[in-house]
Amino acid sequence: MNCFACCLTAETDETTEISVKKGEEKKDGANLGSLVDNMSFKSDAARHEAIANELKRINNGGKSIKARTFTFQDLAAATNNFKNESLLGEGGFGRVYKGSLENTNQVVAVKQLDRNGMQGSREFLCEVLMLSLLHHPNLVNLIGYCSDGDQRILVYEYMSSGSLEDHLLELPQDKKPLDWFTRMKIARGAARGLEYLHETTTPPIIYRDFKASNILLDDDFNAKLSDFGLAKVGPTGDKPHVSTRVMGTYGYCAPEYALTGQLTTLSDVYSYGVVFLEIITGRRVIDNSKPASEQNLVTWAQPMLKDRRRFAELADPLLEGKFPSKGLHQALGIAAMCLQEEASTRPFISDVVTALEFLTVKEDEPKEGSEDAVPPNQSSLDKSDSEQANQEEGKDNEEKS
Ligand SMILES: Nc1ncnc2c1ncn2[C@@H]1O[C@H](COP(=O)(O)OP(=O)(O)OP(=O)(O)O)[C@@H](O)[C@H]1O
Ligand SMILES: [Mg+2]
Repeated sequence: MNCFACCLTAETDETTEISVKKGEEKKDGANLGSLVDNMSFKSDAARHEAIANELKRINNGGKSIKARTFTFQDLAAATNNFKNESLLGEGGFGRVYKGSLENTNQVVAVKQLDRNGMQGSREFLCEVLMLSLLHHPNLVNLIGYCSDGDQRILVYEYMSSGSLEDHLLELPQDKKPLDWFTRMKIARGAARGLEYLHETTTPPIIYRDFKASNILLDDDFNAKLSDFGLAKVGPTGDKPHVSTRVMGTYGYCAPEYALTGQLTTLSDVYSYGVVFLEIITGRRVIDNSKPASEQNLVTWAQPMLKDRRRFAELADPLLEGKFPSKGLHQALGIAAMCLQEEASTRPFISDVVTALEFLTVKEDEPKEGSEDAVPPNQSSLDKSDSEQANQEEGKDNEEKS
């Protein structure tokens, strides 16, 4: 059993234990939120030392964290000395290289964090801790990390089809666009990943950075969420939200979070709605190359989302009309509900997963075990219904938000 709580230092007495409900497998967690948030360093050297010590302590001789530790030499060898030819991409926190581990020949993605900036160190630690605790087929697997000297490097399983962004928003002319059912499959996988974070771990984990470039795909287009550096442990006790600095990516942020910094799992549901709309329309949430009225996807789509007769205008032209019209209507219904301004009226992510189970089934393929299964109508996604059900079970609705 992992037990982080006992070996972490933080400047607060509050301890949050994270457990994973399903499979009876209880994993003790650390007060990750407070640990990561309360780290303060007077200098770069102090920061590097504190992070390295923290990891050493947590790792406790390899007993607590399953992720392997690598030396810088191991990873230099794996990536051909971090050569440009091995570069897979670059994000705000550093470059990502394709590599092959010596001895096992396992193909991996190696993310070398930019060594400047406080944020990178926090996020590095948060990522190692989160991904060591959380395991799910729709979360990317962390194989190991390197914290030699001032190097901060993460080693992940290699996702051969790259990110959803590569297939949807930055599609080269010669690449085939994703078909409708592959899009729905990706949306379902990503929703399942969020569902695990929101509803299987206790307290919930708020992902905070749900966007197309953080959804990685394997060669069968199974989706996995990556980048947990911004993830937050959700509210505990009777608190309805976590208050935090507004972070994440412009355009994907829920309005109440952007305005007040108050974060709940329903902020992730809003970001999910944005990505789902990108999946349906093939448009980027913010696109400055478009005419002014079309630059913000959500604002552009709103009038069409309110008028069923205009739904077809929202479908990605690259789909060339090849989608079931009922499926398009239902998908847009889900997106519209996730994008509600008022957080409390958004569905829970588990409701979204249920609806997507139906949208991934082709008409001639009846859903397993349900001969006369019909897709849930929109009211089954309605938050008030879920709330009612929860009240009937005597559950406090705030458990989920
Ligand atoms: N495990 C992986 N397997 C394969 N490719 C990956 C993997 N992780 C990242 N990549 C590639 O590297 C790119 C950069 O990823 P990274 O997470 O650093 O930045 P980003 O998501 O584009 O932006 P941000 O820094 O805002 O999260 C991704 O778009 C993807 O193409
Ligand atoms: Mg990313």
